[in-house]
Amino acid sequence: MPTTLVLLAHPEPASFNGAWARSSVDAARALGHDVLFSDLYASGFDPAECAGHYAKPPTPFDPLKAQENNAPPPDVAGQIAQLARADRLILHFPMWWFAPPAMVKGWCDRVLAHGHLHDTAHRFDTGRLSRLEVLFCITTGGDAVESGPDGREGDWRLLLWPLAQTLRYVGATVKQPVAVHGVHGYHTGARRIALESRLAKTLADHFGLLANWAHRPAMPFNPDHDFDDEGRLRIDAPSHTPFIRHPG
Ligand SMILES: Cc1cc2nc3c(=O)[nH]c(=O)nc-3n(C[C@H](O)[C@H](O)[C@H](O)COP(=O)(O)O)c2cc1C
Repeated sequence: MPTTLVLLAHPEPASFNGAWARSSVDAARALGHDVLFSDLYASGFDPAECAGHYAKPPTPFDPLKAQENNAPPPDVAGQIAQLARADRLILHFPMWWFAPPAMVKGWCDRVLAHGHLHDTAHRFDTGRLSRLEVLFCITTGGDAVESGPDGREGDWRLLLWPLAQTLRYVGATVKQPVAVHGVHGYHTGARRIALESRLAKTLADHFGLLANWAHRPAMPFNPDHDFDDEGRLRIDAPSHTPFIRHPG
């Protein structure tokens, strides 16, 4: 049976994100998985990479060298140990300023450490976390139209691409993400009731979503051989994202 790691990045356990993450824990358990749960705010995880985390930081501080030449700090070591056990990672977070919260970025900065979870010989197709499959479960305050491809908030799927590419860099497969839109506390009356009913349905349907994991498509990424020696997308290779495209 797979091991599922549920990672929550929200400062309020009673938020919808908190409830959705607990629903992931419950659903994975009901599916018979071994389940690990990491609430980054509740555990006091420090997302800011800095010299103070290391016994012997280089001077001047060079984060890549510090990560490579030191044992991971205890909080990072705990996260790496969980990732080493996990077959599946479910990340729960809200969109804040058109991106995941700084907690998620800082978790990547510190935990996907150079010399431990990646180095120049182990990245992309040769990444160390090749066993790991990842799913982002996210919320937006903007509604579905505003968060769509032509919406004024910007396409929520594109906003998630840098995080997906980060996990792809360390070798993981990233499933097509799931979003619940229009989540915020300012609705009143019928709109509030409609939102609460949508949120309740998301939680009720979550077991089915996780049970269908194997059939959920992955986000497409170019394999290493689609790039030339300079790292440029080969002319005959497909472009899967505006972030990596054929110019002109
Ligand atoms: C600092 C901050 C920035 C936000 N930026 C965005 C944003 O860029 N796009 C968006 O759709 N919603 C944005 N929101 C709204 C949140 O996404 C929304 O409050 C959250 O998804 C609700 O989930 P929760 O009830 O679990 O907190 C922002 C909220 C905060 C606090």
